[in-house]
Amino acid sequence: MLNKIIAILLAAEMALASVSYPIYHSSRSSEDTQEWAYAQGLKQRTKYGYPALLGKDRMSHRSIVALTNQNIDAAYYATIGVGQPQQAFQVILDTGSSALWLISNTLSEAENGQFGAGYDPAASTSFKNKSDEFSVTYGSGQAFGYDATDDVQLGTYSLSSSPLAVVDEVTSTLIAAPVSGIMGLAWSSLSQDVGTPFWQQLVQNDQISGENTMSFYLTRMRSNSQAQSLEPGGSFTLGELDNSLYTGDISFHNILGEDWWRVNMSGINVGGNTVFTPSITIGAGVDSGTTLIGGPHDDIAKIWEAVEGAEEGTGNYAGYWFYPCNANPNIEIVIDGTPYAVNPEDLKFNQASTGTCQGAIFALSSGSTTGSNTNLEWVLGDTFMKNYYTVFRHSPAAVGFAQLSDNAIASQTQVGAVPSQTVGEADSFGNSGAQASYTPAFVVPVAITLTAIIALSI
Ligand SMILES: *[C@@H]1O[C@H](CO)[C@@H](O)[C@H](O)[C@H]1NC(C)=O
Ligand SMILES: *[C@@H]1O[C@H](CO)[C@@H](O)[C@H](O)[C@H]1NC(C)=O
Repeated sequence: MLNKIIAILLAAEMALASVSYPIYHSSRSSEDTQEWAYAQGLKQRTKYGYPALLGKDRMSHRSIVALTNQNIDAAYYATIGVGQPQQAFQVILDTGSSALWLISNTLSEAENGQFGAGYDPAASTSFKNKSDEFSVTYGSGQAFGYDATDDVQLGTYSLSSSPLAVVDEVTSTLIAAPVSGIMGLAWSSLSQDVGTPFWQQLVQNDQISGENTMSFYLTRMRSNSQAQSLEPGGSFTLGELDNSLYTGDISFHNILGEDWWRVNMSGINVGGNTVFTPSITIGAGVDSGTTLIGGPHDDIAKIWEAVEGAEEGTGNYAGYWFYPCNANPNIEIVIDGTPYAVNPEDLKFNQASTGTCQGAIFALSSGSTTGSNTNLEWVLGDTFMKNYYTVFRHSPAAVGFAQLSDNAIASQTQVGAVPSQTVGEADSFGNSGAQASYTPAFVVPVAITLTAIIALSI
């Protein structure tokens, strides 16, 4: 079956003409031009070692960071800069965990191309070794290493002596080249002793406001047969929201605790009928680092029972359901009583055989929901987030969803050049038009579940 899928993808590759257009077309307003000029100034100042001059008037400003979509919506990553002189890395921006880690140059070299570039602490004058052991377990693997600090830059924001972990052992399924690590964007209670997450330090330093913290717009390559393994991924905004990407109001939902970004999932509808109403409060993590939507097996089964022709897979495919692609069920996730629809295209995780699709809602664990506060039982990953402009707000702590703007929808499925790997410069506008230096390869979609599995002491 896998061979067949690869054959289909290769056929798609051959049909692909040379296309290259920008990620999204935003005309520059004068405010944007100011922002660009500011980003240039900041870049020059940091390049030559001058302080960043973050004035009060800049506090509620923002930085728009271009994302790359990896393996047909499996993961979304951005470029960060680390150390002095700066080393650039691709990292998955993960709202389901809180540590920043990078593989070491030793590991990267030993694995010869399997992962992205490795961080070389010896080459950075600002590296400091904390010498504590680091380990993290995710839904799809583990990473081990040690804690350190170094200068870190994301978009136009930089922090000196920011905590990070250097990883010298990692499960091969966790990340794939050109990605070198993960930047956790959940709360510091999950930071594995690494230290306060980058985004939370920015809020503490008043570099971004608590009301306008972080937001995502993710592309949908699943429905474009020309999509290659690396495509434009949309954008991540630190600070002031990007109102070119959404329309109407943002509906905010208070989170259930400052750990994951957990919202109160009050039900699931299929075709307008409620198929699951929990009798307990369920925190569903809104998680950019997980590809799909996941939950306990027996409750996920209730969703698929309502989809005609759906059947659970066996063997390696247990916990995944297969259904007629043309069923296009209307599935809604209900949060605090408000239904949020999932585009039927996003349910088609994979075409398993002619007319049969593998669904993007899967069993993350066995049994049924217990309402646990210390495990994340339900995860609303990229399959969900692609449908909305998603806002992660520090204070009051909440996750918000807004309808995507026509502009965002129009560019959401467009293939094109991936963002440049430059830190700080191009990211204010999403795309420099420059081609990355690696060769994209065709890959079968692989689900990535990064949600950190952590026993919380609460
Ligand atoms: C940092 O400390 C750890 C633990 O003591 C050690 O294994 C590692 O080699 C050190 N790294 C560097 C670059 O000195
Ligand atoms: C969760 O949402 C439901 C439906 O709106 C509501 O009845 C319930 O009180 C909410 N629970 C919490 C803890 O907010």
